[in-house]
Amino acid sequence: MFSAGAGRVKQGEVTLETPPDEMRQFGHAVVESLIRHYSGLPNERVVNVANRDETEALLREPPPEEGQGLEQLLREFEQKVVPRTSHVDHPRMFAFIPGSGTFVGAMGDALASGYNIYAGTWIESSAAHQIELVVIDWFKSWLGLPETAGGTLVSGGSVANLTGLILARERRLGDMRQDGVIYTSELAHSCIDRGARILGFRPEQLCKLQIDAAFRLDIAALERAVTEDVAAGRRPFCVVANAGATSTGSIDPLPEIADLCEEHGLWLHVDAAYGGFAVLDERGRQLLEGIERADSLALDAHKWLYTPFEAGCVLAREVHHLYDAFHILPEYLVDVAGGPSHPNMCDHGIQLSRSCRALKIWLAIKHFGLARYRAVISRTMDLAHYGQELLERTPGIEIVSPVALSVVTFRYVPPSLRGTGGELDEHRLEEINDEIRRRIWDSGRAMLSSTRVRGLYVLRLCVVNHNTRRADVEELVRLVGEHGAAVAAELGSG
Ligand SMILES: Cc1ncc(COP(=O)(O)O)c(C=O)c1O
Repeated sequence: MFSAGAGRVKQGEVTLETPPDEMRQFGHAVVESLIRHYSGLPNERVVNVANRDETEALLREPPPEEGQGLEQLLREFEQKVVPRTSHVDHPRMFAFIPGSGTFVGAMGDALASGYNIYAGTWIESSAAHQIELVVIDWFKSWLGLPETAGGTLVSGGSVANLTGLILARERRLGDMRQDGVIYTSELAHSCIDRGARILGFRPEQLCKLQIDAAFRLDIAALERAVTEDVAAGRRPFCVVANAGATSTGSIDPLPEIADLCEEHGLWLHVDAAYGGFAVLDERGRQLLEGIERADSLALDAHKWLYTPFEAGCVLAREVHHLYDAFHILPEYLVDVAGGPSHPNMCDHGIQLSRSCRALKIWLAIKHFGLARYRAVISRTMDLAHYGQELLERTPGIEIVSPVALSVVTFRYVPPSLRGTGGELDEHRLEEINDEIRRRIWDSGRAMLSSTRVRGLYVLRLCVVNHNTRRADVEELVRLVGEHGAAVAAELGSG
């Protein structure tokens, strides 16, 4: 039994320390809890949602004046929190961009947190800084970036993309200007809109261009828009290319975009938050050709590199671009001033106080070895193709965008709604497919998500998790087929 925290509050010697035996017991109990979580995951429900009334009733309370025992608190977490948490690391989680961490990565986080490593300055964490430099050099080399490149770990893709936009503005516009224009495709992630807004750009300064037949930024449309904007006296300065669009997985034509950026002096930022680590697979590497020409890049190790949240990364072709954009040295920090050979990570981004995100990435890659990451990433890509094959064989399913990286989009079209020669009733199809999605979520067996592709409501399968196997993909497709037929019959569209 763990003693209650209250027992340690004695007159004159108040501490927040935990006795070694209690640490040991609690640590073991937490690890046992995680072992139960990992080993039981495939049998758990994927989607576990509670309504606000329920969570309020369960968890609303004032902070207790006296402490409680750790055993009781762990039980409370397991009984109240875990059952109301959807498992994004579940093998049948196919919605959004899933993220499956590893136990080793989680322990890396525990160590970083337990040692309370302050990863803002070299002086306060030299070796942790070195580990971050090493991890970033690994990423650089996988992507084919030059020696001059560098980066920093951030919370996720959103902040990595915001940082890339900051670099673009600093290097190409200098002061904020109302006539600067950023170009991207209509499939850009919403964090690009948010990043532009945070920086003070108006919505019309973010030009969303049409996509081509392969769901990639239409290069002719880009060329046209840049020429027209220049003629109209505007100032094109940046292109944000997708290296794995969230909705379709498609990769913009990176070499052609890089040529165009070079020709017009535009900054090329690549959003590779989802797709970047596919370079570890030979097919992915070929698809991502041209990524090495980016001026800046966003990556998300908490997606396809199996790191527990949060683990984003921004890379810059010239590391000094990060330093130039972010370095400020106030008088109260002169004692920890860094330099090019001993950089302070706080000089490369938005955060001053930072946790050591590098440790969980470093620990897991060193433990598992790169070959296992390659094999797992390749398997997830294979499984997406397998999913498409199964979907194509399922009556009623129409593929809308074929597999790109590891995403496929599709919809269920009941026989009664097709082949009539006329227009499909899109409203009806949306109703049916949304109901299929909802029923699959309710079943708890799997989770997939919806999006719009060329204005059509579609269901979307994204395979990323390392624990997903063929049987999981088969079950998802079976659920879609069964629910599709049932919903269509009930709505009189069968
Ligand atoms: C292509 C792309 N960019 C950016 C993001 C945002 O990343 P994060 O959620 O880590 O902030 C995502 C998230 O799904 C994404 O798919």
